[in-house]
Amino acid sequence: MRAETIFILDDENLIRWSLKNKLSKAGYETMEAASLREAASTLKSRDPDLIILDQNLPDGTGVGFLEELRGNGNRVPVVMLTAVDRSNIAVQAMKLGAADYITKPINFDELLAVIEKALEASRVVERLNRLQQEKDVQMEMVGDSPAMVGVHEFIRQVARSKSTTILITGESGTGKEIVARAIHAASDRHEKPLMTVNCNALTETLVESELFGHEKGAFTDAKNLKKGIFELADTGTIFLDEIGDVTQKMQVKLLRVLEQKTFQRVGGYTDITVDIRIIAATNRSLEDLVAEGKFRTDLYYRLNVAQIVMPPLRERGDDIMKISEHFLNVFNAKFHKSFAGLTDDLRAQFMTYPWPGNVRELRNVLERAVLLHDGEILKPEHVELTWPRPDPSNGTAVHTPQGHDLSLSELEKQALVNALEKSGNNQSQAAKLLKITRDTLRYRLKKYGINNH
Ligand SMILES: Nc1ncnc2c1ncn2[C@@H]1O[C@H](COP(=O)(O)OP(=O)(O)OP(=O)(O)O)[C@@H](O)[C@H]1O
Ligand SMILES: [Mg+2]
Repeated sequence: MRAETIFILDDENLIRWSLKNKLSKAGYETMEAASLREAASTLKSRDPDLIILDQNLPDGTGVGFLEELRGNGNRVPVVMLTAVDRSNIAVQAMKLGAADYITKPINFDELLAVIEKALEASRVVERLNRLQQEKDVQMEMVGDSPAMVGVHEFIRQVARSKSTTILITGESGTGKEIVARAIHAASDRHEKPLMTVNCNALTETLVESELFGHEKGAFTDAKNLKKGIFELADTGTIFLDEIGDVTQKMQVKLLRVLEQKTFQRVGGYTDITVDIRIIAATNRSLEDLVAEGKFRTDLYYRLNVAQIVMPPLRERGDDIMKISEHFLNVFNAKFHKSFAGLTDDLRAQFMTYPWPGNVRELRNVLERAVLLHDGEILKPEHVELTWPRPDPSNGTAVHTPQGHDLSLSELEKQALVNALEKSGNNQSQAAKLLKITRDTLRYRLKKYGINNH
């Protein structure tokens, strides 16, 4: 962990010197000033984690300084140094939001304990703020590309409507869960619970009692009556994530709930009626699953009353840049970095990369880049993009006999060469084989210095 910095503001050289020595021995970094004027200029260059503040200074008082700090909205913890016979100063300082005070002559062990307590308290506050920010960030939907305007419109309309079933489809990482939360938040159910069920994480036996609850004694472990999610979420919303993975048996049960809004607890005989909105999401094609006989047609029609298809990130144009800047800010703050933007090269790369993992991939790529590197501007060499692996079924598989270079860039290069060979040097066809755009293909060819004429 980074050493915390303590700022000593005292006009007595000897006190500053001894505090500085002892605090660095205790593992803190220190900075110091002997007057208010000096303090003001020191603080411009660096934010301390705590200030030890003397009351009597050559150009003003400690209490006056504290008042000014708080007036500027600075919440840094402050420990006041006061003389034994000046308890009114201590009282004043505490009223102004000092963390604590110490009377002179300084007992160093006491001071250390006070500092540690004050720092711990401010760490807690900071952690809470960060959690809140992370929550806000996760809810935020960045982007206003034409493709997303339709999504926002859909959310607005459907949230207010009476329609109780909503289906969200789209590739992995496109923001289906964010949309589900946005719909709930914009609906008149927003003060009621939103309960998420991950359909592929539930085992067949557990799923029933999780969703519908069970009566006392329904099975060996059922010692008490238990309400299920459908009962607990009454008048609220249930988010059925990964609905495409639900078993045949559960499909029947879900269909019944959707049609009649009633169910029975496991081991029970009474019908329980609930008022819930169901938002189902999947990144699989329900149409394909229906065609393969793996998903019930009647359930599909029940779910598909209002459907939104989330556009893949590569079709959102300039949103890619807006979302990048958003996450750059988020991760700058998280990792104490100061990237101000992306180089033109990197921007071009981002705009042509196919983003198979969509917004989640972009987010992860940026988190990693910001964590691992320092600087003003993010460059291509800071970023690792996983090229979509060539699909063996279309003949562009890369053959790498053992012992050969298996680096990602070498594989990419070979995939490009193979695709060009296969397509008789036709760029459009090669791009199709690799499932990328022609622009991306050209960019990559240039990057690896592959000539194709
Ligand atoms: N428009 C957006 N603006 C900012 N962040 C977004 C946006 N869309 C998605 N995200 C973020 O991307 C990540 C993935 O989003 P989400 O979990 O909603 O995707 P998903 O479609 O449910 O994916 P999967 O199908 O894999 O479950 C989350 O961290 C989310 O906060
Ligand atoms: Mg999801």
